[in-house]
Amino acid sequence: MADLPTIRWGIVTTGLIASWFVEDLVLNRPDAKVKHIIQSIGSSSLEKGQKFAKQYCPTQTPQLYDSYEKVYNDPNVDIVYIGTPHGYHYRDCLQAIAAGKNILCEKSFAINAKQAKEVFDAAKKKNVYIAEAMWLRHRPLYRKLQELLHQDKVIGEVTRVYSDFAVELDIPSLPSTSRYKDLSLGAGSLLDIGVYSLTWLAGGLEERGSENTELPRIMASQRHEDGIEVSTVAILEYPDGRQGVSSCTTKAKGAPSRIFAVYHGTDGHIEVSGDAPSVPESFTVWARQKDSGSADKVLFDKEDYEKKEYTFPKVGRGFVWEADNTALDVLEGRKESKIVPWATTMHVLEIMDEIRRQGGTVYPGE
Ligand SMILES: NC(=O)c1ccc[n+]([C@@H]2O[C@H](COP(=O)([O-])OP(=O)(O)OC[C@H]3O[C@@H](n4cnc5c(N)ncnc54)[C@H](OP(=O)(O)O)[C@@H]3O)[C@@H](O)[C@H]2O)c1
Repeated sequence: MADLPTIRWGIVTTGLIASWFVEDLVLNRPDAKVKHIIQSIGSSSLEKGQKFAKQYCPTQTPQLYDSYEKVYNDPNVDIVYIGTPHGYHYRDCLQAIAAGKNILCEKSFAINAKQAKEVFDAAKKKNVYIAEAMWLRHRPLYRKLQELLHQDKVIGEVTRVYSDFAVELDIPSLPSTSRYKDLSLGAGSLLDIGVYSLTWLAGGLEERGSENTELPRIMASQRHEDGIEVSTVAILEYPDGRQGVSSCTTKAKGAPSRIFAVYHGTDGHIEVSGDAPSVPESFTVWARQKDSGSADKVLFDKEDYEKKEYTFPKVGRGFVWEADNTALDVLEGRKESKIVPWATTMHVLEIMDEIRRQGGTVYPGE
């Protein structure tokens, strides 16, 4: 640990996801690539900061601030982690950039692509690092899946993908200030969890992060209750005919099988499962055997396939890979993440913009 490069984090908010992220930053790991220091914590109140530091990073002594701006202006902070609700990401990123800070900002990165573009333009001008904290893309499971799909082509050419993220939330019972209810905070299932379904689709239908990734044709429908978008279904169709179905809802629990994404290829299938699409645990490859089945067999028969399961161990809350990769980006002087480049964030937001245009979800100020 002593010889590892060190990075000093400024943590903005004491919310749920900030607590998970900090727990992982301070995790004692034999394979850590970076030593993570919690340099400072900014919150709406000092008391919250004190409680948070005591509970989630008791072995460290961060400077506690009663505002986010004080974190941005702390000269000892190398990178700011922003964990406010997504309606505030645009504001908070612009303020941190103005102070010259590098940034890792939670998903969804902004409310729309226009906001994200402004933030990336400002970061470029100021020459600071900024990346969306789409932790899923950093996970070894997601990266192995991409390798098997696109390099090894274990199921041939991917032709279709579907992915669903379902959680059951009792939104009417929540206070009006909840980020699940307040539109100015970005309330709605698409930006909160649908962004994961789209990321699983992209994992199969798109090679990651090209500036030239074409926007697929999109057909979408959204359902609203009390003005909040609670269900989204979107069909994505690419110019070469590949199709994906992405869905999300806050009105139902996920499938009992725990399978949340399925990839179909010319030579097989892959099923991905776990507690939720944000916390995948394993996937199963069903690769068609060369001498399999007769041509008139139209339904799946497991006798015709070779089955291989890939299971990935849990490490902390699952943020360690994102934390190390981001720290190394900054320490090595990069301005964009190699794993979640700006083009990737823009592309997903452009898809979500179009889904919302068709589905009729509009946020304040749009
Ligand atoms: N990566 C993931 O798996 C994951 C999971 C859940 C959420 N997220 C993302 O992380 C962000 C935060 O989600 P969360 O679940 O951590 O939310 P949360 O528990 O409600 O925390 C958000 C924090 O933001 C601060 N805040 C500032 N203004 C606020 C306002 N008007 N209303 C509520 N909070 C306000 C508060 O911190 P202070 O009082 O300390 O200032 C609050 O604790 C969202 O963008 C969400 O999409 C990511």
